[in-house]
Amino acid sequence: MSTLNYQERIPNNVDLGSNRQLQRALEHWQPRFLTWWKELGPERYQGADVYLRTAISVDENGWANYGFVKMPDYRWGIFLADQEPNRTIGFGDLYGKPVWQQVPAEFRSVLRRLIVTQGDTEPASVEQQRLLGLTCPSLYDLRNLFQVNVEEGRHLWAMVYLLHAHFGRDGREEAEELLARHSGDADKPRILGTFNEPISDWLSFFMFTYFTDRDGKFQLKSLAESAFDPLARSCRFMLTEEAYHMHVGENGIGRIVQRTLEVMKEIGSEDPEAVRRAGAIDLPTIQRYVNFWFSSSLDLFGSEQSSNAASAFANGIKGRPDEASFEDHLALNQACTIEVPDGAGGMRREDVPLRNAMNEVTRRAFIADCESGFIRWNRLIQKSGFQTQLTLPSPRFRRAIGVWAGQPVAPDGSIIAREAWETRKASWLPSEADHAFIRSLMRQVIEPGKVAGWIARPARKVNHLDADYEYVKFH
Ligand SMILES: [Fe+2]
Ligand SMILES: [Fe+2]
Repeated sequence: MSTLNYQERIPNNVDLGSNRQLQRALEHWQPRFLTWWKELGPERYQGADVYLRTAISVDENGWANYGFVKMPDYRWGIFLADQEPNRTIGFGDLYGKPVWQQVPAEFRSVLRRLIVTQGDTEPASVEQQRLLGLTCPSLYDLRNLFQVNVEEGRHLWAMVYLLHAHFGRDGREEAEELLARHSGDADKPRILGTFNEPISDWLSFFMFTYFTDRDGKFQLKSLAESAFDPLARSCRFMLTEEAYHMHVGENGIGRIVQRTLEVMKEIGSEDPEAVRRAGAIDLPTIQRYVNFWFSSSLDLFGSEQSSNAASAFANGIKGRPDEASFEDHLALNQACTIEVPDGAGGMRREDVPLRNAMNEVTRRAFIADCESGFIRWNRLIQKSGFQTQLTLPSPRFRRAIGVWAGQPVAPDGSIIAREAWETRKASWLPSEADHAFIRSLMRQVIEPGKVAGWIARPARKVNHLDADYEYVKFH
Protein backbone atom coordinates (compact mmCIF):
# COMPACT_ATOMS: atom_id res chain seq x y z
CA MET A 1 0.00 0.00 0.00
CA SER A 2 1.55 3.27 -1.00
CA THR A 3 -0.96 5.93 0.01
CA LEU A 4 0.00 7.99 2.95
CA ASN A 5 -2.13 8.07 6.03
CA TYR A 6 -2.62 11.76 6.78
CA GLN A 7 -4.85 11.14 9.78
CA GLU A 8 -1.91 10.04 11.87
CA ARG A 9 0.48 12.29 13.72
CA ILE A 10 3.34 10.83 11.74
CA PRO A 11 2.37 10.39 8.07
CA ASN A 12 3.58 6.99 6.94
CA ASN A 13 3.14 4.12 4.55
CA VAL A 14 4.59 1.53 6.91
CA ASP A 15 1.38 0.78 8.82
CA LEU A 16 2.76 2.42 11.92
CA GLY A 17 -0.67 2.26 13.58
CA SER A 18 -0.40 -1.52 13.87
CA ASN A 19 2.70 -1.30 16.05
CA ARG A 20 1.73 0.75 19.09
CA GLN A 21 5.09 0.52 20.80
CA LEU A 22 7.00 1.75 17.75
CA GLN A 23 4.44 4.46 17.12
CA ARG A 24 4.75 5.71 20.69
CA ALA A 25 8.54 5.72 20.51
CA LEU A 26 8.50 7.78 17.32
CA GLU A 27 5.84 10.12 18.71
CA HIS A 28 8.18 10.64 21.61
CA TRP A 29 11.05 11.54 19.25
CA GLN A 30 8.89 13.85 17.11
CA PRO A 31 8.78 16.86 19.51
CA ARG A 32 12.55 16.58 19.98
CA PHE A 33 12.98 16.72 16.24
CA LEU A 34 10.77 19.83 16.10
CA THR A 35 12.75 21.51 18.87
CA TRP A 36 15.93 20.77 16.90
CA TRP A 37 14.34 22.08 13.69
CA LYS A 38 13.26 25.33 15.32
CA GLU A 39 16.65 25.88 16.94
CA LEU A 40 18.98 24.74 14.18
CA GLY A 41 16.82 24.76 11.05
CA PRO A 42 16.51 27.77 8.73
CA GLU A 43 17.14 31.00 10.62
CA ARG A 44 14.42 33.69 10.82
CA TYR A 45 11.82 32.03 8.53
CA GLN A 46 10.11 29.51 10.77
CA GLY A 47 6.93 31.61 10.65
CA ALA A 48 6.95 32.28 6.90
CA ASP A 49 4.53 30.57 4.52
CA VAL A 50 6.59 28.65 2.01
CA TYR A 51 5.33 27.13 -1.22
CA LEU A 52 6.55 23.58 -0.66
CA ARG A 53 6.08 20.17 -2.12
CA THR A 54 5.13 17.48 0.35
CA ALA A 55 5.34 13.77 -0.41
CA ILE A 56 1.99 12.11 0.07
CA SER A 57 2.81 8.74 -1.43
CA VAL A 58 5.72 6.96 -3.02
CA ASP A 59 4.30 6.59 -6.52
CA GLU A 60 5.10 8.89 -9.42
CA ASN A 61 2.45 11.53 -8.73
CA GLY A 62 2.41 11.22 -5.00
CA TRP A 63 5.19 13.56 -4.18
CA ALA A 64 4.06 16.48 -6.34
CA ASN A 65 1.68 17.85 -3.74
CA TYR A 66 2.21 21.63 -3.52
CA GLY A 67 0.92 24.22 -1.11
CA PHE A 68 1.87 26.95 1.37
CA VAL A 69 3.10 25.63 4.67
CA LYS A 70 5.10 27.00 7.60
CA MET A 71 8.19 24.84 7.81
CA PRO A 72 7.62 23.59 11.38
CA ASP A 73 4.19 22.36 10.18
CA TYR A 74 5.69 20.39 7.28
CA ARG A 75 4.40 16.81 7.33
CA TRP A 76 7.62 14.89 7.74
CA GLY A 77 6.64 11.34 7.00
CA ILE A 78 8.02 7.84 6.82
CA PHE A 79 8.00 6.38 3.35
CA LEU A 80 9.45 3.20 2.00
CA ALA A 81 9.31 2.37 -1.68
CA ASP A 82 6.89 -0.48 -2.38
CA GLN A 83 8.06 -3.93 -1.41
CA GLU A 84 9.20 -6.08 -4.32
CA PRO A 85 7.67 -9.51 -3.82
CA ASN A 86 10.22 -12.33 -3.58
CA ARG A 87 13.18 -9.97 -3.81
CA THR A 88 16.48 -11.83 -3.47
CA ILE A 89 19.98 -10.65 -2.55
CA GLY A 90 21.58 -9.23 -5.68
CA PHE A 91 25.30 -9.57 -4.96
CA GLY A 92 28.00 -11.07 -2.75
CA ASP A 93 28.33 -14.45 -1.04
CA LEU A 94 24.59 -14.63 -0.27
CA TYR A 95 23.59 -13.96 -3.88
CA GLY A 96 20.13 -15.34 -4.72
CA LYS A 97 19.02 -15.91 -1.11
CA PRO A 98 15.89 -14.10 0.13
CA VAL A 99 16.44 -10.54 1.39
CA TRP A 100 16.12 -9.82 5.13
CA GLN A 101 13.12 -8.12 6.67
CA GLN A 102 14.88 -8.15 10.05
CA VAL A 103 18.49 -7.41 10.90
CA PRO A 104 20.62 -10.58 11.22
CA ALA A 105 22.39 -10.53 14.60
CA GLU A 106 25.85 -10.89 13.05
CA PHE A 107 25.43 -7.75 10.92
CA ARG A 108 23.66 -5.65 13.50
CA SER A 109 26.49 -3.32 14.44
CA VAL A 110 27.74 -2.75 10.90
CA LEU A 111 24.22 -1.96 9.65
CA ARG A 112 23.57 0.33 12.57
CA ARG A 113 26.81 2.19 11.86
CA LEU A 114 25.91 2.61 8.18
CA ILE A 115 22.43 3.93 8.96
CA VAL A 116 23.72 6.29 11.64
CA THR A 117 26.45 7.65 9.34
CA GLN A 118 23.97 8.23 6.52
CA GLY A 119 21.41 9.67 8.94
CA ASP A 120 23.93 12.06 10.48
CA THR A 121 24.58 13.84 7.16
CA GLU A 122 20.91 14.80 6.76
CA PRO A 123 20.42 17.15 9.75
CA ALA A 124 24.07 18.20 9.36
CA SER A 125 23.37 19.77 5.97
CA VAL A 126 20.32 21.61 7.34
CA GLU A 127 22.54 23.04 10.09
CA GLN A 128 25.27 23.98 7.61
CA GLN A 129 22.78 25.88 5.45
CA ARG A 130 20.77 27.56 8.19
CA LEU A 131 21.90 31.12 7.53
CA LEU A 132 21.62 31.07 3.73
CA GLY A 133 18.07 32.42 3.72
CA LEU A 134 19.40 35.74 4.99
CA THR A 135 21.32 36.26 1.72
CA CYS A 136 19.09 34.54 -0.85
CA PRO A 137 19.37 35.90 -4.42
CA SER A 138 15.60 35.57 -5.04
CA LEU A 139 12.38 34.22 -3.55
CA TYR A 140 12.59 31.35 -6.02
CA ASP A 141 15.98 30.34 -4.63
CA LEU A 142 14.81 30.82 -1.05
CA ARG A 143 11.94 28.45 -1.68
CA ASN A 144 14.24 25.87 -3.28
CA LEU A 145 16.63 26.08 -0.31
CA PHE A 146 13.77 25.40 2.10
CA GLN A 147 12.52 22.54 -0.07
CA VAL A 148 15.95 20.93 0.11
CA ASN A 149 16.09 21.55 3.88
CA VAL A 150 12.72 19.98 4.71
CA GLU A 151 13.59 16.97 2.55
CA GLU A 152 16.88 16.48 4.37
CA GLY A 153 14.74 16.56 7.51
CA ARG A 154 12.60 13.80 6.00
CA HIS A 155 15.71 11.76 5.19
CA LEU A 156 16.60 11.98 8.86
CA TRP A 157 13.12 10.63 9.65
CA ALA A 158 13.72 7.74 7.24
CA MET A 159 16.90 6.68 9.06
CA VAL A 160 15.40 7.26 12.51
CA TYR A 161 12.49 5.00 11.58
CA LEU A 162 14.92 2.20 10.71
CA LEU A 163 16.81 2.70 13.98
CA HIS A 164 13.62 2.65 16.05
CA ALA A 165 11.98 -0.20 14.19
CA HIS A 166 14.96 -2.55 13.94
CA PHE A 167 17.62 -1.76 16.53
CA GLY A 168 15.75 -1.67 19.84
CA ARG A 169 17.17 0.40 22.67
CA ASP A 170 20.49 1.01 20.85
CA GLY A 171 18.55 2.37 17.90
CA ARG A 172 16.53 4.74 20.10
CA GLU A 173 19.74 6.01 21.69
CA GLU A 174 21.31 6.57 18.27
CA ALA A 175 18.20 8.51 17.21
CA GLU A 176 18.70 10.84 20.18
CA GLU A 177 22.37 11.26 19.29
CA LEU A 178 21.42 12.30 15.75
CA LEU A 179 19.84 15.38 17.31
CA ALA A 180 22.59 15.88 19.89
CA ARG A 181 25.55 16.11 17.49
CA HIS A 182 25.69 19.44 15.67
CA SER A 183 27.55 20.63 12.63
CA GLY A 184 30.76 22.38 13.69
CA ASP A 185 30.17 21.72 17.41
CA ALA A 186 33.50 21.53 19.24
CA ASP A 187 32.33 18.80 21.65
CA LYS A 188 29.81 16.89 19.58
CA PRO A 189 30.53 17.42 15.89
CA ARG A 190 28.84 15.61 13.03
CA ILE A 191 30.48 12.31 12.05
CA LEU A 192 31.97 13.28 8.67
CA GLY A 193 34.39 16.21 8.45
CA THR A 194 32.88 17.97 5.42
CA PHE A 195 29.56 18.21 7.23
CA ASN A 196 31.09 20.39 9.92
CA GLU A 197 31.95 23.28 7.60
CA PRO A 198 29.31 26.02 7.38
CA ILE A 199 27.90 26.74 3.92
CA SER A 200 27.80 30.50 4.14
CA ASP A 201 27.41 31.64 0.54
CA TRP A 202 25.18 30.60 -2.34
CA LEU A 203 27.97 29.63 -4.73
CA SER A 204 29.03 27.08 -2.12
CA PHE A 205 25.41 26.00 -1.63
CA PHE A 206 25.02 25.24 -5.34
CA MET A 207 28.40 23.43 -5.35
CA PHE A 208 27.30 21.46 -2.30
CA THR A 209 24.02 20.41 -3.91
CA TYR A 210 25.80 19.58 -7.17
CA PHE A 211 28.70 17.57 -5.71
CA THR A 212 27.97 16.61 -2.10
CA ASP A 213 24.30 15.71 -2.63
CA ARG A 214 25.50 13.64 -5.60
CA ASP A 215 27.82 11.76 -3.25
CA GLY A 216 24.63 11.20 -1.24
CA LYS A 217 22.94 9.86 -4.36
CA PHE A 218 25.67 7.26 -4.87
CA GLN A 219 25.73 6.21 -1.22
CA LEU A 220 21.96 5.78 -1.41
CA LYS A 221 22.25 3.83 -4.67
CA SER A 222 24.67 1.40 -2.98
CA LEU A 223 22.40 1.07 0.05
CA ALA A 224 19.34 0.67 -2.19
CA GLU A 225 20.92 -2.68 -3.21
CA SER A 226 21.18 -3.86 0.40
CA ALA A 227 19.94 -7.26 1.48
CA PHE A 228 18.34 -5.49 4.46
CA ASP A 229 15.11 -4.78 2.61
CA PRO A 230 13.69 -1.93 4.77
CA LEU A 231 16.95 -0.02 4.24
CA ALA A 232 16.89 -0.68 0.49
CA ARG A 233 13.29 0.51 0.25
CA SER A 234 13.88 3.73 2.24
CA CYS A 235 16.89 4.58 0.11
CA ARG A 236 15.01 3.99 -3.13
CA PHE A 237 12.44 6.60 -2.16
CA MET A 238 15.07 9.04 -0.86
CA LEU A 239 16.73 8.91 -4.29
CA THR A 240 13.72 10.61 -5.90
CA GLU A 241 14.19 13.56 -3.53
CA GLU A 242 17.98 13.59 -3.89
CA ALA A 243 17.62 14.01 -7.66
CA TYR A 244 15.85 17.31 -7.01
CA HIS A 245 18.68 18.54 -4.76
CA MET A 246 21.22 17.96 -7.54
CA HIS A 247 18.91 19.72 -9.96
CA VAL A 248 18.99 22.77 -7.66
CA GLY A 249 22.80 22.66 -7.83
CA GLU A 250 23.07 22.16 -11.58
CA ASN A 251 20.55 24.88 -12.26
CA GLY A 252 22.09 27.31 -9.80
CA ILE A 253 25.59 26.94 -11.24
CA GLY A 254 24.15 27.16 -14.76
CA ARG A 255 22.38 30.44 -13.95
CA ILE A 256 25.57 31.87 -12.44
CA VAL A 257 27.55 30.93 -15.56
CA GLN A 258 24.84 32.40 -17.76
CA ARG A 259 24.89 35.71 -15.89
CA THR A 260 28.71 35.82 -16.06
CA LEU A 261 28.55 35.31 -19.83
CA GLU A 262 25.98 38.10 -20.20
CA VAL A 263 28.30 40.45 -18.31
CA MET A 264 31.36 39.33 -20.31
CA LYS A 265 29.52 40.18 -23.51
CA GLU A 266 28.27 43.51 -22.16
CA ILE A 267 31.72 44.68 -21.13
CA GLY A 268 33.47 42.93 -24.02
CA SER A 269 36.05 41.37 -21.74
CA GLU A 270 36.88 38.10 -20.02
CA ASP A 271 39.20 39.79 -17.55
CA PRO A 272 38.28 38.42 -14.11
CA GLU A 273 38.73 41.78 -12.41
CA ALA A 274 36.52 43.53 -14.96
CA VAL A 275 33.86 40.83 -14.60
CA ARG A 276 33.93 41.26 -10.83
CA ARG A 277 33.69 45.02 -11.09
CA ALA A 278 30.55 44.49 -13.17
CA GLY A 279 29.08 42.45 -10.30
CA ALA A 280 29.34 38.92 -11.72
CA ILE A 281 31.43 35.92 -10.69
CA ASP A 282 34.35 35.38 -13.08
CA LEU A 283 34.76 31.91 -14.58
CA PRO A 284 38.21 31.26 -12.96
CA THR A 285 36.62 31.74 -9.53
CA ILE A 286 33.84 29.31 -10.42
CA GLN A 287 36.54 26.83 -11.53
CA ARG A 288 38.35 27.20 -8.18
CA TYR A 289 35.12 26.45 -6.30
CA VAL A 290 34.62 23.39 -8.54
CA ASN A 291 38.17 22.23 -7.72
CA PHE A 292 37.49 22.58 -4.00
CA TRP A 293 34.07 20.95 -3.85
CA PHE A 294 34.80 18.11 -6.27
CA SER A 295 37.94 17.06 -4.42
CA SER A 296 36.18 17.15 -1.02
CA SER A 297 33.31 15.04 -2.36
CA LEU A 298 35.72 12.39 -3.67
CA ASP A 299 37.09 11.83 -0.18
CA LEU A 300 33.60 10.94 1.08
CA PHE A 301 33.81 7.62 -0.78
CA GLY A 302 36.75 6.43 1.33
CA SER A 303 40.02 4.67 0.44
CA GLU A 304 40.58 2.94 -2.88
CA GLN A 305 41.31 -0.27 -0.99
CA SER A 306 39.08 -1.18 1.88
CA SER A 307 38.51 -4.45 3.67
CA ASN A 308 35.34 -3.00 5.23
CA ALA A 309 33.96 -2.31 1.76
CA ALA A 310 34.90 -5.87 0.74
CA SER A 311 33.05 -7.44 3.65
CA ALA A 312 30.04 -5.15 3.23
CA PHE A 313 29.84 -6.40 -0.36
CA ALA A 314 30.49 -10.05 0.53
CA ASN A 315 27.76 -9.96 3.20
CA GLY A 316 25.11 -8.31 1.06
CA ILE A 317 25.07 -5.13 3.11
CA LYS A 318 26.19 -2.57 0.55
CA GLY A 319 26.30 -3.21 -3.18
CA ARG A 320 27.48 -1.29 -6.20
CA PRO A 321 25.29 1.49 -7.63
CA ASP A 322 23.05 -0.14 -10.27
CA GLU A 323 24.25 -3.62 -9.30
CA ALA A 324 21.86 -5.16 -11.85
CA SER A 325 23.83 -3.55 -14.68
CA PHE A 326 26.88 -5.71 -13.87
CA GLU A 327 27.18 -9.16 -15.41
CA ASP A 328 28.79 -10.85 -12.48
CA HIS A 329 27.48 -10.19 -8.98
CA LEU A 330 30.04 -12.12 -7.01
CA ALA A 331 33.00 -9.92 -7.96
CA LEU A 332 35.44 -12.73 -7.16
CA ASN A 333 38.70 -13.36 -9.04
CA GLN A 334 38.51 -9.93 -10.65
CA ALA A 335 40.65 -6.89 -10.23
CA CYS A 336 40.27 -3.15 -10.41
CA THR A 337 43.31 -1.24 -11.65
CA ILE A 338 44.14 1.86 -9.67
CA GLU A 339 46.93 4.42 -9.94
CA VAL A 340 49.19 4.90 -6.96
CA PRO A 341 52.17 7.21 -6.34
CA ASP A 342 55.42 5.30 -6.96
CA GLY A 343 57.33 7.22 -4.29
CA ALA A 344 59.74 8.67 -6.86
CA GLY A 345 57.60 11.48 -8.22
CA GLY A 346 55.70 9.30 -10.67
CA MET A 347 52.90 6.79 -10.51
CA ARG A 348 52.33 3.14 -11.21
CA ARG A 349 49.34 0.93 -11.73
CA GLU A 350 48.24 -1.60 -9.20
CA ASP A 351 45.61 -4.33 -9.37
CA VAL A 352 43.30 -4.46 -6.37
CA PRO A 353 40.92 -7.41 -5.81
CA LEU A 354 37.57 -6.07 -7.01
CA ARG A 355 35.73 -6.56 -3.74
CA ASN A 356 38.35 -4.47 -1.94
CA ALA A 357 37.98 -1.73 -4.54
CA MET A 358 34.23 -1.15 -4.12
CA ASN A 359 34.75 2.40 -2.84
CA GLU A 360 36.70 3.16 -6.00
CA VAL A 361 34.05 1.54 -8.22
CA THR A 362 31.40 3.78 -6.64
CA ARG A 363 33.64 6.86 -6.83
CA ARG A 364 34.18 6.29 -10.58
CA ALA A 365 30.43 6.05 -11.16
CA PHE A 366 30.07 9.34 -9.25
CA ILE A 367 32.77 11.03 -11.34
CA ALA A 368 31.09 10.00 -14.60
CA ASP A 369 27.79 11.35 -13.28
CA CYS A 370 29.39 14.71 -12.41
CA GLU A 371 30.13 15.37 -16.10
CA SER A 372 26.57 16.13 -17.23
CA GLY A 373 26.44 19.67 -15.87
CA PHE A 374 29.83 20.53 -17.33
CA ILE A 375 28.71 19.57 -20.82
CA ARG A 376 25.76 21.96 -20.51
CA TRP A 377 27.70 24.85 -18.97
CA ASN A 378 30.52 24.56 -21.51
CA ARG A 379 28.02 24.60 -24.35
CA LEU A 380 26.65 27.87 -22.92
CA ILE A 381 30.15 29.34 -22.79
CA GLN A 382 30.95 28.22 -26.32
CA LYS A 383 27.68 29.56 -27.72
CA SER A 384 28.55 32.95 -26.23
CA GLY A 385 31.77 32.92 -28.22
CA PHE A 386 34.27 32.38 -25.39
CA GLN A 387 37.03 29.77 -25.23
CA THR A 388 37.17 29.05 -21.48
CA GLN A 389 35.94 25.61 -20.40
CA LEU A 390 34.99 24.53 -16.90
CA THR A 391 36.47 21.12 -16.09
CA LEU A 392 36.54 18.55 -13.34
CA PRO A 393 40.02 18.38 -11.83
CA SER A 394 41.87 15.06 -11.77
CA PRO A 395 40.64 12.70 -9.02
CA ARG A 396 44.23 12.74 -7.70
CA PHE A 397 44.05 16.49 -7.03
CA ARG A 398 43.92 17.70 -3.38
CA ARG A 399 42.92 14.42 -1.84
CA ALA A 400 42.90 13.95 1.92
CA ILE A 401 41.90 10.28 1.94
CA GLY A 402 43.29 7.30 0.04
CA VAL A 403 46.55 6.66 -1.79
CA TRP A 404 46.75 10.24 -3.11
CA ALA A 405 46.22 11.88 0.27
CA GLY A 406 48.59 14.80 0.71
CA GLN A 407 50.32 14.28 -2.66
CA PRO A 408 51.30 17.39 -4.64
CA VAL A 409 49.15 16.91 -7.74
CA ALA A 410 48.04 19.66 -10.13
CA PRO A 411 44.39 19.85 -11.29
CA ASP A 412 45.44 18.23 -14.60
CA GLY A 413 46.66 15.20 -12.63
CA SER A 414 50.40 15.72 -13.05
CA ILE A 415 52.60 15.21 -10.02
CA ILE A 416 54.61 18.32 -9.26
CA ALA A 417 57.25 19.39 -6.78
CA ARG A 418 55.97 20.11 -3.30
CA GLU A 419 57.19 23.74 -3.41
CA ALA A 420 55.37 24.26 -6.71
CA TRP A 421 52.18 22.91 -5.14
CA GLU A 422 52.51 25.31 -2.20
CA THR A 423 52.99 28.33 -4.43
CA ARG A 424 50.40 27.43 -7.03
CA LYS A 425 47.57 26.11 -4.88
CA ALA A 426 46.22 29.63 -4.36
CA SER A 427 45.49 29.80 -8.09
CA TRP A 428 43.71 26.44 -8.00
CA LEU A 429 41.58 26.80 -4.87
CA PRO A 430 39.37 29.60 -3.56
CA SER A 431 41.54 32.10 -1.69
CA GLU A 432 40.54 34.34 1.22
CA ALA A 433 40.13 37.13 -1.33
CA ASP A 434 37.78 34.95 -3.41
CA HIS A 435 35.69 34.17 -0.35
CA ALA A 436 35.57 37.85 0.56
CA PHE A 437 34.46 38.77 -2.95
CA ILE A 438 31.74 36.11 -3.00
CA ARG A 439 30.58 37.20 0.45
CA SER A 440 30.38 40.81 -0.77
CA LEU A 441 27.83 39.71 -3.40
CA MET A 442 25.59 37.99 -0.88
CA ARG A 443 22.79 40.52 -0.39
CA GLN A 444 19.28 39.34 0.16
CA VAL A 445 16.77 39.88 -2.66
CA ILE A 446 13.21 39.00 -1.68
CA GLU A 447 11.03 41.18 -3.89
CA PRO A 448 8.90 38.84 -6.05
CA GLY A 449 10.39 38.57 -9.54
CA LYS A 450 13.67 40.31 -8.63
CA VAL A 451 16.99 38.47 -8.84
CA ALA A 452 20.48 39.37 -7.56
CA GLY A 453 22.90 40.71 -10.18
CA TRP A 454 25.34 37.77 -10.07
CA ILE A 455 22.85 35.09 -11.13
CA ALA A 456 20.48 34.83 -14.10
CA ARG A 457 16.72 34.71 -13.71
CA PRO A 458 15.42 31.17 -13.29
CA ALA A 459 14.10 29.67 -16.50
CA ARG A 460 12.51 26.74 -14.72
CA LYS A 461 9.20 27.12 -12.95
CA VAL A 462 8.06 25.58 -9.73
CA ASN A 463 4.91 23.58 -10.36
CA HIS A 464 3.97 25.70 -13.42
CA LEU A 465 4.30 28.96 -11.48
CA ASP A 466 6.47 31.68 -12.99
CA ALA A 467 9.72 32.96 -11.56
CA ASP A 468 8.04 36.13 -10.26
CA TYR A 469 5.56 34.20 -8.11
CA GLU A 470 5.57 35.03 -4.40
CA TYR A 471 6.95 31.67 -3.31
CA VAL A 472 7.55 32.77 0.27
CA LYS A 473 5.23 35.03 2.23
CA PHE A 474 6.71 36.71 5.27
CA HIS A 475 3.61 38.48 6.71
FE1 LIG B 1 19.47 13.66 2.06
FE1 LIG C 1 20.20 15.94 -0.41
